[in-house]
Amino acid sequence: MKKIQIAVDGPASSGKSTVAKIVAQDLGLIYLDTGAMYRAAAAVALRNKTGLADDIISVITDNPISFKNTKKGQLVFLGDEDVTSLIRTNEVTNNVSWVAAISEIREFLVAEQQRIAAEGNIIMDGRDIGTVVLPEADLKIFLVASVDERAERRFKENQLKGIPTDLETLKFEIAERDRKDSTREVSPLKQAQDAILLDSTGMSINDVVQFIETKAKEL
Ligand code: DC
Repeated sequence: MKKIQIAVDGPASSGKSTVAKIVAQDLGLIYLDTGAMYRAAAAVALRNKTGLADDIISVITDNPISFKNTKKGQLVFLGDEDVTSLIRTNEVTNNVSWVAAISEIREFLVAEQQRIAAEGNIIMDGRDIGTVVLPEADLKIFLVASVDERAERRFKENQLKGIPTDLETLKFEIAERDRKDSTREVSPLKQAQDAILLDSTGMSINDVVQFIETKAKEL
């Protein structure tokens, strides 16, 4: 039987991972957070003080990136090390764009993502899922929201986690990440021609989930 593939792409903090996780749970799909893989690669680059693709890939080959679903949510591992919190630090967030722009790193991680997709029905979120990773996906969503709304959502999330943040700085960082992700040479953030554009500004998480699930049930 043909496997179901759903691609959710869009800019930073547009709610992709939040909604993709819920849809995965509701519809019994594997959820793959591809941003976490680029973040893990950035953490390796920072820790080893290297920008060389070969060095980064060699560490990840020896210590593969994996995911574990637990009651606390999905945990991200690098080899045996739980890097779930490390990959969300500001230092990693502010360095992930340049690591994600290295073509060898992308080739390596895309191959890994395609291998995981071959294992079953999947929903993946990222920047290039509908264009590069799963060009034949059955459903492609390009999820956007205004910079102000995305910054406010991230601000509230950080407040709940007790992470001190400045809203204006967040707006700047989000706009900057959008710029870097959409202007890089390799696999820039771009809506696939056959993707559905969904602007979630003013929509609740539940509204977005319902929209995607309705489309998925039509497949
Ligand atoms: O979704 P996120 O914020 O966790 O993604 C982290 C970074 O990784 C983001 O700045 C862009 C990059 N990324 C990418 O280039 N391609 C993907 N498929 C997923 C993320």
